[in-house]
Amino acid sequence: MQTIRGFRDILPETIGLWQKVEKEATQLFEAFGFSEIRIPILEKTELFARSIGEATDIVEKEMYTFEDRKGDKLTLRPEATASIVRSYVQHKMYASDPVRKFFMTGPMFRRERPQKGRYRQFYQIDAEVFGIDSPYIDSQLILILHELFKRLGLTGLSAHINSLGCPDCRPAYQKALLEFLESKKETLCENCLRRMDKNPLRILDCKVIECKGALMDAPSTLDHLCPACTDHFETVKRTLEIQGVDFMVDKTLVRGLDYYTRTAWEIQTTTLGAQSAVAGGGRYDKLVAELGGPPTPAIGFAIGFDRLVEVLEQIEAPKEKPLDLFIVSLGDTAVEKAYLWSCELNRNNVRTELDFRGKSMKALMKRADKLKASYVLIAGENELAQNTVLLRNMATTEQVSLKLDHLVLDLIRIIKK
Ligand code: HAM
Repeated sequence: MQTIRGFRDILPETIGLWQKVEKEATQLFEAFGFSEIRIPILEKTELFARSIGEATDIVEKEMYTFEDRKGDKLTLRPEATASIVRSYVQHKMYASDPVRKFFMTGPMFRRERPQKGRYRQFYQIDAEVFGIDSPYIDSQLILILHELFKRLGLTGLSAHINSLGCPDCRPAYQKALLEFLESKKETLCENCLRRMDKNPLRILDCKVIECKGALMDAPSTLDHLCPACTDHFETVKRTLEIQGVDFMVDKTLVRGLDYYTRTAWEIQTTTLGAQSAVAGGGRYDKLVAELGGPPTPAIGFAIGFDRLVEVLEQIEAPKEKPLDLFIVSLGDTAVEKAYLWSCELNRNNVRTELDFRGKSMKALMKRADKLKASYVLIAGENELAQNTVLLRNMATTEQVSLKLDHLVLDLIRIIKK
């Protein structure tokens, strides 16, 4: 039996980097006032269709959707934002305090064509902020990403930012875009032509080479921003500059989800081939109201966890956790004693292992080496007969004889020193 295409196991050998990223991210989010939220993996299809947009690639062709036994249409979450908004509205969180900051980590599902950096089950680290329309928050979220990548030792990542405007400036932009698209109708793919009526902005995200070429001089949202959106974007850029966060304004950045307003961004790397975005986010000031809540500004981002780990793997090997102690026990009496000591040590957070397979001294010493034990405790029949054991420091090869009285306490004291 094999995993499904685009699904994969993350094995213990590589989990170290995942844990390191998660630890750094959690620490950072907590320092910036975010609380963890956990949301279901399965939601009503309608939630994603309405939030992400009916005419997006995700909703049109990438969702894992099925009917359950009662005929309800359900979807494996392709992203977290829609669910977190649903949760914010469902629990009326806005009533007690409209300002909320959440983060979460977990698997998402999109039926895309698998390749390096692109999976059908992939993981995101997601952050969302509700109730603040200030551009300082836009800037702060990009700063958080910058800081996380810095702490992880990553360089060569650049933030591409754009402003997609608001409902006040969208209509004028949409008009200019449609006029432009009319003039390119001959070259656009069928998908783009179909999207012209439904959602012309989506066309700017088309991956077909001919469409990309035709859209090179398409009007940009930046040239049609209203004064409020212009001010907002200026503050974001100014504060990023003051804080030394590298960014470039990318007029062509539209993102693949429909809910965005104003600031949108992607953090890109040059080291992962075609899958260059390691994180993406933006403002979505209309979504809370669209999903039944009161008008509430909101903004967030998601990091592609798999991609981030792949970038990290290029600069560091995952570290295995070394073993503190391996107990070499020879003979039945010794094995039982070793078993009892090891449990006691494990309960005191000393990473201890032993072997129950009745192997020879030589084989057991080999195993201690393989497990990279810092210390080896040798409990042979001779030693036990004298109420002692031998403790060897594997780095210095120094050996000390320890009495069985208070053995566990002595071991904790020596090993944890
Ligand atoms: P997104 O750009 O669709 O945004 O996804 C965010 C990140 O998830 C991408 O930049 C990429 O690193 C990673 N990603 C997406 N698809 C895959 C895949 N098939 N395999 C591996 N990694 C992938 C969102 O999902 C928004 N919900 C972000 C957001 C939060 N906006 C506001 N709040």
